Amino acid sequence: MPVNTIAVEEGQVKILDQTLLPARTEYRVIHNAEEMWEAIKILRIRGAPAIGIAAAFGVYLGIKDSTAADFDSFWNEVVKVTDYLATSRPTAVNLFWALDRMKRFIQTQKSRPIPEIQQAILEEATRILEEDVAIGRRIGELGAALLPDGCGVLTHCNAGGLATARYGTALAPIFVAKEQGKTIRVFADETRPLLQGARLTAWELRENQIPVTLICDNMAASVMAKKWVQAVIVGADRIAANGDTANKIGTYGVAILAQEHKIPFYVAAPLSTIDPATSTGAEIPIEERDPREITHGFGRPTAPEGIQVYNPAFDVTPHAYITAFITEAGVVYPPFAENLMKISRQNFVQ
Ligand code: MRU
Repeated sequence: MPVNTIAVEEGQVKILDQTLLPARTEYRVIHNAEEMWEAIKILRIRGAPAIGIAAAFGVYLGIKDSTAADFDSFWNEVVKVTDYLATSRPTAVNLFWALDRMKRFIQTQKSRPIPEIQQAILEEATRILEEDVAIGRRIGELGAALLPDGCGVLTHCNAGGLATARYGTALAPIFVAKEQGKTIRVFADETRPLLQGARLTAWELRENQIPVTLICDNMAASVMAKKWVQAVIVGADRIAANGDTANKIGTYGVAILAQEHKIPFYVAAPLSTIDPATSTGAEIPIEERDPREITHGFGRPTAPEGIQVYNPAFDVTPHAYITAFITEAGVVYPPFAENLMKISRQNFVQ
């Protein structure tokens, strides 16, 4: 993989600024929790697992200069910074999962001197990052087994290395299949309005010498009708207990098209994206973003001044359209309510 989405070098936390891709590959040093909040909010770093990792480092940045005299006052600062980071984006449950994990970890450190706890917090954030690399690899291995040599895969948005620490979720099977000598042809939906498919997926697949064809979102049906696609793989921002899945706006439509064309529709995601506390997709909070993303796409006015706009960043695909979930602990088939619960227990019993 050519890039690290987030890295720590000489004590500095750096992120690859994804708002600049594909034109520029530039890292940005993040100095404090406020800068990390902004980076998550405006999608300098994005994709559910990467948002979680970024938030974990955000906790470190928020408390690294604390001069608290005792654990109780240090803990108040931890709660303040985690509550603050939790307001950056609402849909990806990995954000809340990572913040909860950091809080639980910090509680286990309470008997240590504060400077040691600060160092341990950096180490825990680094562990979340390293675990994500291993998780992506495993998702890749399990997913690659579902992809026959020569097949076409359609994906929506970016659930690649850029959305995680390294391999990605939806793109991980494609990277591993390539290592295994298979040729997989990818169709990348451009993904309106922010073009994560065009700017990020097409870019990272080409960087990895994987054949990729960029299509506009409204071309997916036509490409499927031509029988160029044998599998759809997408990522997820939050998977409800019954399997309903929030992912980038437009995913639901792709799932319906896949069912109509009898193409398997896979959701690749780490166990940390499963939210057992959310029973169905109707309960998943869906982020709505600035109308200017639609009316002024990348700067140029593309709609009449003052037009009313609806700009949800995600939609929910009902579980009935999903063939299987590819997680690091195995491929999960229906009945999802039962099988997701079984598998996600591994992630919550700590
Ligand atoms: O708004 P974004 O770019 O953060 O949306 C990203 C997605 O919808 C991804 O598909 C999802 O987070 C999974 S990333 C492995």
